[in-house]
Amino acid sequence: MRQVMVAGNWKMNGSSESVKELMAGIAAGMSSVTKAEVVVCPPAVYISRVSGAADGSAVKVGSQNICDEDSGAFTGELSGDMLKDVGCEYAIIGHSERRALYGETDELVAKRFAAARRNGIKPLFCIGETLEERESGVTNDVCARQIDAVIALEGVEALADGVIAYEPVWAIGTGKVATPEQAQEVHAFIRGKIASLNAEVAEGLRILYGGSMNPGNAKELIGQPDIDGGLIGGASLKAEDFLAICQAAE
Ligand code: 13P
Repeated sequence: MRQVMVAGNWKMNGSSESVKELMAGIAAGMSSVTKAEVVVCPPAVYISRVSGAADGSAVKVGSQNICDEDSGAFTGELSGDMLKDVGCEYAIIGHSERRALYGETDELVAKRFAAARRNGIKPLFCIGETLEERESGVTNDVCARQIDAVIALEGVEALADGVIAYEPVWAIGTGKVATPEQAQEVHAFIRGKIASLNAEVAEGLRILYGGSMNPGNAKELIGQPDIDGGLIGGASLKAEDFLAICQAAE
């Protein structure tokens, strides 16, 4: 049985005051969350503060990226060691915003995946197609290519150390959610593709859905056989909404 995961990607939002309030609100509601593994990914400058506030609750903390190198002259980057040091258990890798706006290639994303693993951080590995790609019928090819870059570098077994998040780019921040059927179809494709290489890894691997997930649609999405939770953007910034999504797994 795969444990449901609900992860909040706070992106570049918040202030010292607001993240304190958000984390306190989430921690306070955790007694009603018994099934889902819950992770929050704050902006890097707030990670220490949030992991301090998360201490003693069941909430885990992740970063929104990780450097592919371990130390040295890499201005602006954060190493796996540093992220571990401030309490990160997970790191989002290959988010479509990083790929589209900051030029992260499949190869760089794979290297970041490798860096997370070698530093004992679990990759929360994002994949997904743009609207144009969906409309030209290459959704599965795009997801396969993104996964293959990691498999080529690290081997299929490496996927067992992390979580995949399928995030169709056209559904991110748009309020336009994939239907449960559309999402399930891609999730099943992803699991099947991995199963063709290693059935055990595929069976144990959690595949989250991301893209305009909210308290109103979470239950049906998470209820699909191959959807093991969600990576939440906008709705993770309100404790009440985020907790309601976590409770969709109850
Ligand atoms: P939204 O939930 O705001 O669509 O964002 C999803 C996302 O990008 C999570 O990583």
